[in-house]
Amino acid sequence: MTVNRRHFLHAAGAGLLLPQLSACSDIEKLPASDVPTSVFNADSTAEDVTSGLDLRGKLAVVTGCTAGIGFETMRVLAMRGAFVVGTSRSIDRAKEACSQVNGLTMPVRLDLGDFDIVAQCADVIRTLQQPIDMLICNAGYRGGGNERQLINGIEKHFVINHLGHFILVNRLMDRLYRSSQGRIVTVSSRAAYRDAPEEGILFDDLGMAKTYRDALAYGHSKLANALFSLQLGQLLRGTRITSNALHPGVIKTELDRNLSAVSRFAWGAYVKFSGKTIEEGAATTCHVATSEDLGNISGRYFEDCNAFTIKGKGHMQNLAMAEKLVQTSIDLTADWLVEFKESK
Ligand SMILES: NC(=O)c1ccc[n+]([C@@H]2O[C@H](COP(=O)([O-])OP(=O)(O)OC[C@H]3O[C@@H](n4cnc5c(N)ncnc54)[C@H](OP(=O)(O)O)[C@@H]3O)[C@@H](O)[C@H]2O)c1
Repeated sequence: MTVNRRHFLHAAGAGLLLPQLSACSDIEKLPASDVPTSVFNADSTAEDVTSGLDLRGKLAVVTGCTAGIGFETMRVLAMRGAFVVGTSRSIDRAKEACSQVNGLTMPVRLDLGDFDIVAQCADVIRTLQQPIDMLICNAGYRGGGNERQLINGIEKHFVINHLGHFILVNRLMDRLYRSSQGRIVTVSSRAAYRDAPEEGILFDDLGMAKTYRDALAYGHSKLANALFSLQLGQLLRGTRITSNALHPGVIKTELDRNLSAVSRFAWGAYVKFSGKTIEEGAATTCHVATSEDLGNISGRYFEDCNAFTIKGKGHMQNLAMAEKLVQTSIDLTADWLVEFKESK
């Protein structure tokens, strides 16, 4: 194995990594022995993991296609032949991103913080009258300045990162059923078990009025991503649809756009020495969305192109919490949800 900067820093336990490692000593990350081990790892790129695949005839939806991991995911899936619907809050930005990609793409407007627009986005995608093979819930928001913001009384990260995607998945579910093997891929984060509140989902304080920090709120929303994916895996058992969540790695993207200049600089320096490139950052998403070995793997959590079980601190495997999250999310978004007859 070649030793690159990431391996070196891990081995040396150098500088900025130390606080993270010690803060996480109560977390056990165990390879999931019942999921095929992939030949890919943290150094693999999205192009590597899809090499040789022919995705012609497949339809993928990638939320947040204008920057970072979402753009690279769209680029590589389209390059391998898939027809990719790419979304952005701005139709002009979505068009611009799609125009930079070789292959078949369609730009659609999606603002996950506005549930009417989420419903409209799903309606536009449905006009394609095509099965959806990959629904990639990638778009994400991370606040800065530690100023709590609410959307309809609920904390903003939870609304954008979780509830918006919750509605989108619901409104596209029948199109996933029509695929020979539909995959829902949720881009969560290891913040789901490192930074989320100790008690997990704050069912009694979804506005986070009691304690608010950006990192806590982001971790809370990413735990919601992971638990929704886990519960979908349960609900979709016996169907051809799978649901998996992942951490893409630590990557310098525009996710830090709301941080102060100083925090952005510190984050950039940290990522430069211990993070992944954007090409590597999109690899786990593309692997989980396309690998033939994962056709019947569902309800799992991936890092660096492999499935892991997270034990110790956190709630990543908390099925009771996942079930309660889905019921709570249904209650919060009922006006935007639709019911479909399952066609298994
Ligand atoms: N970068 C990392 O180190 C890292 C680590 C762990 C997890 N993640 C996760 O990876 C995913 C992608 O992040 P990234 O790093 O690629 O971030 P990014 O460069 O900021 O890209 C985020 C994408 O989400 C879209 N977006 C932002 N707010 C939105 C909203 N309210 N409604 C709809 N779309 C919205 C943006 O599009 P518009 O602005 O054009 O709407 C953009 O295309 C996120 O879910 C993030 O939490 C990233």
